[in-house]
This record gives sequence, structure tokens and C-alpha cells, in this order.
Amino acid sequence: MSSDSATTGPSAFETRSLGAIGAEVRGLDLRRAISDDVFDVLRELVMREGLVLFRGQALTSIEQIGLGQRFGPLEQLDVRAEQEEPTLVVIGNLDSKGEVLPADATHMKLISINEGWHTDSSFREIPASFSVFSCVVGPEVGGDTFYANLRRGWVDLPEDLKARLCGLRGVHDYAAAYRARGNDEGGMIGYDLPAIVHPLVRRHPETGTTGLYVSEHISHIEGMDPAESRRLLDELLNHTTAENRIYRHHWSVGDVMIWDNRSMLHRAQGFDQRHPRVMHHVRVGGFERPIAAT
Ligand SMILES: [Fe+2]
Repeated sequence: MSSDSATTGPSAFETRSLGAIGAEVRGLDLRRAISDDVFDVLRELVMREGLVLFRGQALTSIEQIGLGQRFGPLEQLDVRAEQEEPTLVVIGNLDSKGEVLPADATHMKLISINEGWHTDSSFREIPASFSVFSCVVGPEVGGDTFYANLRRGWVDLPEDLKARLCGLRGVHDYAAAYRARGNDEGGMIGYDLPAIVHPLVRRHPETGTTGLYVSEHISHIEGMDPAESRRLLDELLNHTTAENRIYRHHWSVGDVMIWDNRSMLHRAQGFDQRHPRVMHHVRVGGFERPIAAT
């Protein structure tokens, strides 16, 4: 256990490692007002660690939206929303009566896109910066989330491969990713937008560190032979998400996770349909287009 700041006086919080990547914060109540000084330390911590976990924080929707807005303006995640105001989305396996949906329900098929390794909103020209996830109903088993660090994936690559990757661009094609999971009706977030290219190696806009920008939502590498593209993407993803480089989180009610999409991959394990699971999510918009590393 280590103190993360000497500047925050009685509000100082402690951190502990979650293992290969990530940190847990203790001693900071997200439901109480957080001073700008403490928030700045927290924001730096999220960027340095990639993901930060809090436990025992049953945030109201308003509190979670407010927390997200400290990081920046939120994205509108509901494609059918009529109101302009971005808000919190519920990700769960319950119907309107609170009954667990069957695995083949349309809604479950739609959200199965989250089971591929991805960074949030890479279908946008300016993808998301931070995400805030909280657990409202925790499943006894299943429903875990896996995290991998794209910076770590880059650092460990052989130098000749690094040189080859700089300058390449990945085609982020959400419609293809949805269709691959049996969803072809449109009207889903990212589905109706054209595929978009982003650099395969990016420089973090705030920390300046270099990381891969790979995802299972990339259909291919621009201008590359399809088979070679597939082989290279699989190699990079497998390397970055190797068992000894990831953090796997089993959710309990009151858990809050904040991560930096500019340096982190994540994926859902998928729902165990014997158990209800309900998460609340707010997503912070990005601030600039991904910057290619040179
Ligand atoms: Fe996600």
C-alpha cells in the first residue's frame, strides 16, 4: 500500500497494485465532493495505471454522470435518444420486468460486440478518452471484464516489428464487427457510421507514451494483403492480451472502474444467463484525433 499524493492532506488516498496492470484506490469516497487537487491526482493515476478500481461505492446515476464530467464532456451513447444531453447507459441482461433475458435475445446479441477486445468508441474520428463503469447488480459467476495495456503491448515488441508497424493504419469497421456476431439491422451505436482509419501505433496525447492501437473491431490494415493483415492483427492482439499481461475483474455491487481508452483494451467475458448483471456506464469524449507515433 502506498500513498499516492503528498498534496491532498486529509483527502489523500492510497493505492495498491491489482497485479500485472492497474491499481485499486482506497480511502477516497467518490460520492463526496472531490477537490480539484485530489481529482488531478486521480486523473494522473488513471492515465499512468490505465485502469483504477474503487470498491464499495454505490454511485447514483447523477453521481456517476458528475464523476464522468469531471474528466470531460460525455458522449451520447444512445443512438435513439431524442434528447441532446449525453447520459448514462445501462448494460445488463434484464428485461423491463427485471427477468433475465435468454442468451439468444436480440439485446444480448447486440451487446455481445463487447466480448471482442476493443477501446471505446474507436468508430469515431475522435474516440473516447475515459470510461467509467459501475456495478449495480453483480453476478455470482460470469460477467467478468478483462483489461490489457496497449502501451505494455508495444514496449515488449521486437524492434524490427515496431519499425514495420509505424505508419500503418487500422480500419475500424463496427458494422463488420456487429455482423460477425449476427447483428445486421443497423440502429446500433457505431453501426451506421462508415469504417474509419486510425494509426496502428499511437502517441498518448497527454502522457506522450507510445502504444499499439489494435482492436477486434479493426477489420484489416489499410493497403495490406488481407491474409497478412489478419495474421499481423492476430499476432499483435495475442501478444498484448497474453495471460500474464492482463487484469481480469469479477464485479461486485459498488465496484467502480475508470480506465483510459487511449492506452487500454478491454473485453467482456459475456453474460452467464443464470445470473442477473447490471452495469452503469458513462463515456468521456476524446479531445483530439489519435496521433500517429513516429
Ligand atoms: Fe467497451
